[in-house]
Amino acid sequence: MTITVSNDWGKDIPGPSPAPVLGWLPALLRFAFQPLGTLENLRKQYGDMIRLGIGKYPAVIVFDPDYNRQILRDPGSFYAYDIDLVPVDFPKDSAVRRVTTGMPLMNGPRHDDHRAALLPYFHRKFVTRYHDACVEMTERKIASWKPGDVIDMRSEMERLAMWLGTAPVLGLDPEKEGEAIGMQLERTMKAMFNPFALLFPYDIPGLPFHTLIRNAEEMERVVRGVIARKKEEGLTGNDILSIMIQMHEEDPERMSETELIGHTTTMFRGGYNPNGMALYWTIFLLSQHPQALNNVMDELHRAMGDDTPTPESVEKLPYLEGALRECMRLFPAGTWTGRLAMRDFEMNGHPLPKGTWIVMSPYVTHRIPEVFPEPYKFMPERWLSIHPSSYEFMPFSAGPRYCIGTSLAMLQLKIALAILLRRYSFTLEPGAKVECAGLNSIRPKNRLPMIVDRVDAQRPVTPFAGNIHKIVQFA
Ligand code: HEM
Repeated sequence: MTITVSNDWGKDIPGPSPAPVLGWLPALLRFAFQPLGTLENLRKQYGDMIRLGIGKYPAVIVFDPDYNRQILRDPGSFYAYDIDLVPVDFPKDSAVRRVTTGMPLMNGPRHDDHRAALLPYFHRKFVTRYHDACVEMTERKIASWKPGDVIDMRSEMERLAMWLGTAPVLGLDPEKEGEAIGMQLERTMKAMFNPFALLFPYDIPGLPFHTLIRNAEEMERVVRGVIARKKEEGLTGNDILSIMIQMHEEDPERMSETELIGHTTTMFRGGYNPNGMALYWTIFLLSQHPQALNNVMDELHRAMGDDTPTPESVEKLPYLEGALRECMRLFPAGTWTGRLAMRDFEMNGHPLPKGTWIVMSPYVTHRIPEVFPEPYKFMPERWLSIHPSSYEFMPFSAGPRYCIGTSLAMLQLKIALAILLRRYSFTLEPGAKVECAGLNSIRPKNRLPMIVDRVDAQRPVTPFAGNIHKIVQFA
């Protein structure tokens, strides 16, 4: 879809200018290599609404919660980036299109219809049925750990998240099916978030765009295989995939095969990627904050003693929830997100044309000191007394399109953490450096090596180096 706009827009909005010869290329490269620092510096230099973009591609970056509200609560006027809106020509009948036709990248009445149909299956009461599967997956994952082991917390938690996602979302065995889909998803997402793939969109062997196309094809093959096996094994009706396949079979006009493939891919991704990040960063942050960890342990002891978490006891963990929220505040799964204006609009007194790209950044909004005093500190206790609006704290986005999996994610995360933290203590391996990377998320660049020990082992907090100190202020 091409939207034509006039060049005369947003002249009074502050913002950087393109470089004399290279235009926006240096700024784009700076952003690609240092997205977080670039976003924070933009706010420091220009404020809460910033003009970007030239000529026919108008774009603004906004950080103020009121601007987030204006955009996110009106999905009919501000579309998510679906593949037709990205200014890159993806082949018409291609796997890239099919695997990205999931709910997060759909718009308009069709999105709303699918969301309304699936919403009841993500309701807090409904997802409680996955409680036992989450307990079982977590127990299974940690069964082989022994005190004294050094594990890569990142890969272990990503794998656990993959398992936690496989049972409720796909209703399949995690080791048999979840791993294959998860690994391929990882490769496809990496290819998709390579800025050079979109800057040079040519399907020529050796170019990142070619890698993206091939990975999407493989992704589609894996997802089709999972759907076929699911049908063979019988649809239970309990897992999300069975529910979606039934919807497709009952009314293919309402949910097409392409949409079923897209939903399956994005649902699985939605569950597994951010859950992994929330798990390893929360464990890491707690390991560096002994008082907060003590508070979590006291609360876990009060709520469940030595018992396995129950659906009732996981509802009584406000401090652990505070630790999780604090982790998602500091490390939001998506550090920035965007929408495209489908009509002319006005923001902060500035008229802006249809076709304007609006970028929002939970990472920066979550660090506004007027909302979150001492924003760079990990302080789970702040959540016992503050109630920010969903446009101030938005790890799950906000408005009518907030994350449909919020209740499921919180359930999975609380169960997993309750089991892990009561079974073992975790300490960063001495000498480890914690460097973070990621264009749209914050992940350890390398391993996150942590020592597993008995829960009552007394190990000192490990000092460490790395650029994570720019993201969190440690004592
Ligand atoms: C810690 C865990 C999670 C986080 C932080 C998270 C975050 C988000 C965010 C930020 C969005 C909005 C994206 C945007 O508008 O740009 C979103 C949407 C979505 N998420 Fe999640 N998510 C999580 C877990 C899950 C789970 C477990 C599922 C499902 C199994 C899921 C499924 C979805 C779907 C389907 C959407 C699209 C909703 C719509 O467009 O109406 N997410 N999520």
